[in-house]
This record gives sequence, C-alpha cells and structure tokens, in this order.
Amino acid sequence: MTFSEAQNRIKKLRSEIDYHRYNYAVLDEETISPAALDSLKMELFRLENEYPELITPDSPTQRVAGKPLDKFKKVVHSAPMISLFDAFSENDMRDWEERNVNYLKRTIREEYYCELKLDGLAIKLRYVNGLLVEGATRGDGKVGENVTGNIKTINSIPLRLRVPTASELNALGLNSTEKNELSKLIEKGTIEVRGESVMSKKVFAALNKKYLSLGKAELANTRNGAAGSIRQLDSKITAERKLDFYAYDLLLDGYERGEIIRTREGADKLANLLGFKTLKQNRVVKNLGEVFKFYAEVEKKRAALPFEIDGTVVKINDLKMWLTLGIVGKAPRYEMAYKFSAEQATTKILDIIWQVGRTGALTPTAVLEPVKVGGAKISRSTLHNFDEINRLDLRIGDTVIIERSGDVIPKVISVLKNLRNGHEKKIAAPDFCPICNSSVIRTGDEVAYRCSNKKCFAVMMREIIHFVSKNAADLEGLGPKVIEQFLNGGLIKDAADLYDIKKEELLSLERFAEKKADNVLKMIASRRILSLNRFIYGLGIRHVGEESAELLADNYKKYLSLKLDSEKILNPKLKIKISDLIKYFQSLSREDLENLADVGPIVSKSIGSFWSDTHSLKLLDKFENSGLALTLNPNNSSEASSNLNSIKNSELNNKIFVLTGSLDGLTRSEAKDKIKQYGGKVKENITKDTNYLIVGAEPGSKYEQAKKLGIKILNEEEFLKLIK
Ligand code: IVH
Repeated sequence: MTFSEAQNRIKKLRSEIDYHRYNYAVLDEETISPAALDSLKMELFRLENEYPELITPDSPTQRVAGKPLDKFKKVVHSAPMISLFDAFSENDMRDWEERNVNYLKRTIREEYYCELKLDGLAIKLRYVNGLLVEGATRGDGKVGENVTGNIKTINSIPLRLRVPTASELNALGLNSTEKNELSKLIEKGTIEVRGESVMSKKVFAALNKKYLSLGKAELANTRNGAAGSIRQLDSKITAERKLDFYAYDLLLDGYERGEIIRTREGADKLANLLGFKTLKQNRVVKNLGEVFKFYAEVEKKRAALPFEIDGTVVKINDLKMWLTLGIVGKAPRYEMAYKFSAEQATTKILDIIWQVGRTGALTPTAVLEPVKVGGAKISRSTLHNFDEINRLDLRIGDTVIIERSGDVIPKVISVLKNLRNGHEKKIAAPDFCPICNSSVIRTGDEVAYRCSNKKCFAVMMREIIHFVSKNAADLEGLGPKVIEQFLNGGLIKDAADLYDIKKEELLSLERFAEKKADNVLKMIASRRILSLNRFIYGLGIRHVGEESAELLADNYKKYLSLKLDSEKILNPKLKIKISDLIKYFQSLSREDLENLADVGPIVSKSIGSFWSDTHSLKLLDKFENSGLALTLNPNNSSEASSNLNSIKNSELNNKIFVLTGSLDGLTRSEAKDKIKQYGGKVKENITKDTNYLIVGAEPGSKYEQAKKLGIKILNEEEFLKLIK
C-alpha cells in the first residue's frame, strides 16, 4: 500500500468507525456488531502503526473506551473496573499459564476457578452498613455512570445485604475472628459487589414479540437489551425489561484480597449468602486440562442456558495470588477470559470463485484476505448464489463483514460501501463451467446458474474418490462426504488440489474444528510421497487397474535404468518429474504399449489418449506443481524407503505371488503391500511364472492350478515367516 493509499484508507476507516461509535454510544443504536467494529479498529491501528505520522489526536485509536454518558451522574470507582485479556484457544491458555510461570519464576500449582462469561453489562454495587447506596456502570473503568435508580428495579439485586447465619459462616471455613470481622463489615462497613446484569433469552424473545406487535424497534440482542435498559433515564422502562444480575466479584472495604475470604470459590459462596445470584455452573478445577474440559462442556450447554454467554472466565482460585500476580496494562494476570469465537470480523474480498455442486449448480465463494474470526483464520466464505451477490451489491476489493458462529460456514453479512475507493470490480455471472468448460444455463425463475453438462460434478467426484482410495494415494479418512464438502467449499477442483489445502480453508467448512483440520492436514502430509504405480493407478485411466499401473511404472523404471545407474534408481530420494513421465508416455507408440505384457489394443488406446488429452495434461501439470512427490519405490511410506536395502537382500525380491482365500491376521491389501515392500510382485492369476501361491481359508480354484503346476504353496503362517 502506498502512503497516499494508506492515508485514504485511514480517513475512510476513521469516519466509518466514528459513525458507528456515535450511533451506539450516543443514540443507543447498534449499527455494527462490536466484533466487526473491533476488526475495523484493528485495521486502523495496524495502519497507524505502519504510518505513525498519520496518527491524529481525534483518531478513534486515541480514545479511551466507553466514556460515561452525560445524562447520568458520574461515579469515580474506588478501585478501577478493569478489563480482561482474551484467549481463544487452548494454546492461548497455555501461553497465559506460561507467562505466569515466568513471572512467578516457579511452576503453577494453584487451582483455577472456572466461571461462565455472561454477555451483559458490568455493574458495581456499593453497600454501606448493609444498604445498597450506589449502582454504577463501568464507564471508562475509572469513572462510570450512576444508575442506582435503574439498578433498584432488578429483582435479583438485594437492596439490603442478607446477614448469613453463624453456621453458614462456619461452612465457609472462617475462624471466629474472621467471622466477627465479616459480620461487622456486613452490618457496619462497606462491601462492593461486582457482576453482570443480563437479560434472559426468554425475556428478550417476549419483549421483541411485544415490540414487533406495537411496531416498535426490536432489540438487537440480549446484551443490548441489558445495556440499553440500564442506561435508560426512565426507570419504568428498566423495570419492564426484567433484568437479572449475577455476582462475580466481592471487595471487602479495608481488607486485602485473600483476607477473610481466601478463594474465588469462597467469595462466590459468600456472595450467595449475602443474597446474590451466582452461577451454579462455576467450579474449581486442578489444572489446565480440566479447564479445557470445563470449556468444552460449557460450549455444548451454551444453547440450552437461559442467558447468553460469550465464553468462560478462568481465575486463579487463591485470592492471595491475585496480589502477587497483579495487573499488567489493562487487565489482571490472575484471570483470563477464555472466549468462544468472536463471530464477526471485517476483511477484504480478493476474488470470487465458482463451485460446481452435485446438481450442477454453480455457487460463488468469496476468497478473502485471511482474517481471524474468534481464533480461527478464515480465507473463504460462501455467497450462496448470484442473487446474493446482487443483493449485497458485492464487488471484488470490497471490505465486508463476515460472520462465523460455531462450526457453521462463514457468511458475508454486509458490505461497508463507505470504504470503497473506486477500484472495486463488479462481479459477472459465469458463462462457462469452471470444471468442464461446458456452457452455463439459467432456467425460468431459478436463482442458480447450472453447468449444462449433467455429468460434470459426478465425474469429478468419482475421479477424486478413486484417486484417494486405499490402493492409490491412500488418503485415509477422505470419504465421499468429505470430498463433496471440499468440492462444494471450493477447496479443491481435482485431486491435485488436495496436496495444497490450507488449514484456514478447512476451518471455513461446516463441522471442521481445529482438531479435525489438523488431523486431515497431518494425514495428507504423511502421504506426500507416492509410489509411481499407485499414482498411475490413481489417475483413473480407463482399463488401467492396479496391475497394469504396476507394469507401466515398471516399464518407466526400466526406461530410466537405461539412462541412470542402478544406485540412483534404488535411491529412495529419487523424485520423478511428471513432465518427464508425460514425455515418456507420449513417446510410446501403440505398438510399444501393446508390446508391454498384458496390454491389448483397447488398453493401449486408452493409455495413449490419456497422456495426450488436454484435460489430463492440465491435471498432471497441477500435480507437478503440487506438494506431491513421486518415487519409484513400490510403496509410498517413509518406512518403505528405509527398507530398500532389505529389498535387495530379500527372498521375495522379484518373485511373483498370487493370493487365494481369506487371510486371518491381515487384509489382502496389507499382504500385497508387504510383498511389494520386499520387492515381490502380486498377480491375479496363476501362470507358469508364478513363484508362490499364498493360501488362506476357503481357497478358490487357484489352489488346484498351483498344485498342478508344482508352484510353491504357502499358508498364512509360512507367509508371515517369510516377510518377517
Ligand atoms: S471478572 C477485570 N467474571 O466480562 C474485570 N467478568 O470482558 C473482572 N464478565 O467487564 C471481570 N462474566 O463485565 C468476570 N464471570 C465473570 C464475567 C465477567 C462476564 C464481563 C465483565 C467484564 C468483561 C470483560
């Protein structure tokens, strides 16, 4: 980006951010989600970092968040209402623990107290001599808004603290001095309770139903419902909105953290005894592993909870540790918000690609400048159909808001048109199918454009499924459903694309979370070296089965051995260039091909046309440039490569095997792999050249044939000995 482009972008970002800020902070109207607004601020922040000379005092980056509103009296907080650091992944949480370990210079043995992170408005309540005297919002952290009148309409906030009984205080594990001091504080001292005011999902739905019938503007979400209700000048409106309050912190005036009440768990119990609601889901855990379990459980239960949460908060349970660890920058070291995915972010549209689905419908997918949406990097987003592009008035180069909730495919929600610079490109409907180049049609009122070639998707699917199969590339776990998902998601157009899939592309698919994406990538990486015979078989050349593929690979090996010395041929690191392979096959005449054993006129014709067909040449070219490497080694695992020496010495080397009947301890394909691994060959039928017949249970006619020809017959046990 040039200086003047940056200057332009900064100007536009500032006015867009300011527009939404004003709507929200002054007019109480949310015109963009906080996550999307954060995303814009982040972009501005990054640009200003790059061009510090462009920072101005009125830039939104120079603003302290959440200035109190003028319409309320101001409250100076006794202790600042700070914020929390955010974590979005297990790794973020491990980093947090490691930072604390480094800070403390010792390992962390402390328990953690895991809490729900309520999505509402932070409130502090001051009780003097047991009476509620002040309720305030956070404001900018130092100065908040006095909303005592409104707070008093919340039924779950006690106007006078409940006095716990002696046995209740005993149960808290307090000694008699502590019990006395606490009782004194409740009745004759100051206690501050901090927590979250929330609107339940039920109240939110009922209110919106009512507002809709009255023609009034609906509430955008429960957080807005809570925040808007508390910051009302008319407390009747607050009351109508039936808010709830949950306590998450207790400050005992005149006492340090950890005095009287030693743990976060204890503070929660005490808040409860004082008459507050606390979250019954909160619990003590012993280590990060258990924190992750808590998080996973909460994530599962999230939808069924009566209120909205946006994650969990993990706190060191021992309150004395809070003093030791303290605060850094804007937030404490001793607690961390371990959040669910922020669901919206802003990014740029780099391109639009068209996917062909099972029904031949062409679906546009937006290629995005990679962006983190709640911990996961996303680089693609579905657009459904061409009408959606028109409805959004989407152009290449546009800045858009994308949304991703849970494992659902990310969507483009809206276009920030004010950020356009005039270089955006309009998107045209497709004329030709990106897969088979057939013309594209749109019939009647249908929204979808379709490929006119009815077999397009099915053929493509079949080709890829064959390529990934066990006896070809053996890309384990990539079943037809996953392949279809990859095709529909625009991750692949053919088998060659499989080797270049990126993590962020996988994360853009439904049901693909971190772990699954990592596993798929690991599996593909472990199969980046593929033997030539498997590759040729995987290409799906008509009439070329496993054996013919082996023959073709063997013949190429022979051809190479004329050019290279045998050490090189046996070198497991020798990589085959696909362009050489193409040249070799193109140089073979039909007769040459027919002269190769087992290849008749039909097969030779099919092989010949495959290596000259433009569609296959395009695919081969993609393979050449993909992350796949081909070897002459008859197996494709690294284990096989290290076995090359044993091949040379093995009894199996160059021996021809035939199998019949079913084996007990290994599958037929495993047996074949073993034989090949030791340099042997496997054939379907018994001939005079066969060296061994391996016989399993219920053998077929091959057994009699072999006996007649005097071929050595091995049972499973003997075979296993041979390959040991
Ligand atoms: S402890 C330093 N515990 O999350 C602030 N906060 O993103 C102490 N929140 O402003 C906060 N549930 O309003 C804490 N169980 C919980 C919470 C919680 C929701 C809110 C709180 C805070 C915001 C920070």
